[in-house]
Amino acid sequence: KDFPVFRVGIVTLSDKGYQGEREDKSGPRIKELLPAEQYEVVSMRLLPDERAMIEEELIRLADLEQCDLVLTTGGTGFSMRDVTPEATLAVSGRVAPGIAEAIRAGSMAITKRAMLSRAVSAIRHRTLIINLPGSPKAVEESLGFVLDTLPHALGLLR
Ligand code: MTE
Repeated sequence: KDFPVFRVGIVTLSDKGYQGEREDKSGPRIKELLPAEQYEVVSMRLLPDERAMIEEELIRLADLEQCDLVLTTGGTGFSMRDVTPEATLAVSGRVAPGIAEAIRAGSMAITKRAMLSRAVSAIRHRTLIINLPGSPKAVEESLGFVLDTLPHALGLLR
């Protein structure tokens, strides 16, 4: 193998999910889409759309769990509760806009509503954080646009 196994943290942001009013299908879907021989999912958590809690979790995954990659799902839209991009940027030292651009560009060919995703991608120390939209369909489509390029990106952060 060209690359080692990468440590991955998954965070689902959903008020309804956190309150038990909706099953989280997007977090588990992300895990299914990552080739198991290349990615080890070390943490999968469900949080409400609370900026402080999201920031704390992103810091934990980067600094304590030493994740190479953190994938978030949800909280990227225009609803007043959606704060995932802001939390991501607040804990990141560098931005990696090309990844979010690739996801939005690819997604725009599928649905014009992709322009309503405010998702960002950024780097905290050696951890790449990528926001994905909330629905399982959007997660699957979005990951499909960047998955083949991720090993090279993560290798550069090692
Ligand atoms: N991207 C893809 N590939 N497929 C989709 O169905 N849905 C869009 C967008 N991005 C979508 C997508 C919609 S309808 C919204 S509101 C935004 O993602 C934000 O989603 P979120 O608020 O669940 O994060």
